[in-house]
Amino acid sequence: MIEIKNIIKTYKTGDVEFNALNGVSFTIADGEFVAIMGPSGSGKSTLMHILGALDIPTSGTYFLDGKDVSTMTDDELADIRKDKIGFVFQSFNLLPRTTVLRNVMLPLIYEGINASEREARARKSLLLAGLDEGHFKNLSNQLSGGQIQRVAIARALVNEPSLILADEPTGNLDSKTSEIVLATFKKLNKELGRTVVLITHEQDIAEHADRILFIKDGLLLEDKINQIKKTVNQK
Ligand SMILES: Nc1ncnc2c1ncn2[C@@H]1O[C@H](COP(=O)(O)OP(=O)(O)OP(=O)(O)O)[C@@H](O)[C@H]1O
Ligand SMILES: [Mg+2]
Repeated sequence: MIEIKNIIKTYKTGDVEFNALNGVSFTIADGEFVAIMGPSGSGKSTLMHILGALDIPTSGTYFLDGKDVSTMTDDELADIRKDKIGFVFQSFNLLPRTTVLRNVMLPLIYEGINASEREARARKSLLLAGLDEGHFKNLSNQLSGGQIQRVAIARALVNEPSLILADEPTGNLDSKTSEIVLATFKKLNKELGRTVVLITHEQDIAEHADRILFIKDGLLLEDKINQIKKTVNQK
């Protein structure tokens, strides 16, 4: 599904150029659950923006489902995002003083889908993301951190993306709520076959993925297949 080769991303601040990504290559197959780890400033979010067609690399190639995304125009990138990709950001990006339902329906407004169909789809993704129906009419600022994150996941799912990208989705949550949110990603991956790429700095979150990519100083340091955990019956 994802094939990136020798990706370099250079940011320019004034006269200073800085390579946030220094030549990263890997492939991710359809249906994989991959965690990306690495220190602060190592280039994880930069990489995620490129994978999510929010930005293009300075050089290198990115093929998504066989299409070269690395040379697309802004309009073409927008189409790719709408058709294939769902984002969950650490800083939720929900509209405040707006109901949960409306927040989730929003991405569909530009797709010519009528209001009742939009609502039906929003309800479906909210339930899939594990939010109780009792909260659908709440304003987004009337929810707990974990509930807000479930709304953010629901919004990412509403266009039925094949690729779900999440940047520190559990970064602001306590460990119990993190487990619930993580279970949602696992369900999307294992039961619905969605490809999930999740950035986290927490080892115990990353252990739930099939594979962990370690990024440091804009380089891929390690590509590790997670051991399947054995359950031992103790009697
Ligand atoms: N728009 C930008 N302009 C200039 N430099 C940037 C820009 N965005 C990111 N950087 C720099 O690129 C490097 C990588 O940033 P990035 O956000 O990808 O790191 P990260 O691994 O996601 O870190 P964190 O774990 O703190 O979120 C950092 O040194 C950052 O300062
Ligand atoms: Mg980041």
